[in-house]
Amino acid sequence: MANLLESLDDVLLLGPGPSTIPPEVYRALGRRTLGHMDSQFFELMDGIKESLRLVMGTANRATITISGTGTAGMEATLVNLIEAGDPMLVVVNGFFAARLAEMARRLGAVVDTLEFPWGKPIETKEVEKRLSSGAYKILGMVHAETSTGVKNPIQDLGPPARRAGALFIVDAVTSLGGLEMRADEWGIDALYSCSQKCIGCPAGLSPVTFSEGAMKKAAGRSAPVPNYYLDMNLLMKYWDGSPRAYHHTAPANMYFGLYQALQLIREEGLEAVRKRHREAHEHLVAGLEGMGLSMLVEKPHRLPMLNTVLIPEGVDDAAVRKELRAVHKIEIGSGLGALAGKIWRIGLMGYSAKKENVDTLLGALRKILRR
Ligand SMILES: Cc1ncc(COP(=O)(O)O)c(C=O)c1O
Repeated sequence: MANLLESLDDVLLLGPGPSTIPPEVYRALGRRTLGHMDSQFFELMDGIKESLRLVMGTANRATITISGTGTAGMEATLVNLIEAGDPMLVVVNGFFAARLAEMARRLGAVVDTLEFPWGKPIETKEVEKRLSSGAYKILGMVHAETSTGVKNPIQDLGPPARRAGALFIVDAVTSLGGLEMRADEWGIDALYSCSQKCIGCPAGLSPVTFSEGAMKKAAGRSAPVPNYYLDMNLLMKYWDGSPRAYHHTAPANMYFGLYQALQLIREEGLEAVRKRHREAHEHLVAGLEGMGLSMLVEKPHRLPMLNTVLIPEGVDDAAVRKELRAVHKIEIGSGLGALAGKIWRIGLMGYSAKKENVDTLLGALRKILRR
């Protein structure tokens, strides 16, 4: 009987995530599994918490990983912090911020959006102005907007949110690991991310952190958190309880992978990892511009880990991506929503963020576009 696993390609993942996996992480994923209530496993969970605090720039006790992808982290953050009728402001300049707003609405928040054009950063003055009414209990924003390649200035919005009495929620799904993150210093109350981008692990986990204020809100709700699986109060009894209380069967091997991926980041050094992302990005932009291509986003607002390049007139978007994948075994991403067919999204995330990978992609693109 044929086994399809034997025929899978070894693909260089340069799309919007997942990114390629370091060999050390594959080895960790393949280790003998452990029970989710095993004392050695609890030690490993403590190690994950400690590393996440470092990468996130926080001392928050409630720093854990949700067993689920980035969307589960988004859902966990919102379902714990929103009570029906809560007024919330979501700043939208791309697909994922729009998802944040939609999810918050489904959970009963009364959502106002403050919209900025896709491909442009949000303007802090405008956000401050809207917050100053004091009308909002929650502010939600995306740090690295994966749909456009724009970096948003979240570092400036914690203090105005606090002055306005709003909890500040940040989506760091694409940014965490590849961009500076100082959750405490920047006044972030809750942040969620994912395992499969700049962290360098397969998809399946979503690191989150909640400040004391956020945990207070989750604990002091008038009714229990409506989602049992994502209830931070229950999850903390598993991650931090004494004794630890069973909540769900944690996917142990995924936790092994995340632990190892975080170890690698710590061994390389946070700043060295960010520098590697920046350098790969600059190398890519220079190469693309050298080929006559243009970037969607203005230079100061570009993300290093997610590069959006305008597809030249007359070039067939899907055909180019298909040839990259079929012939060169390289994955890049297409445009989302309004940008579909207009841009390619080139991810340089985690273990993929290397100049040699950039050279491989540029060589392949040159061959295809020359025709
Ligand atoms: C900014 C952002 N938020 C949320 C998500 C959703 O994460 P996931 O696809 O891991 O569920 C993504 C996925 O790419 C993202 O880029």
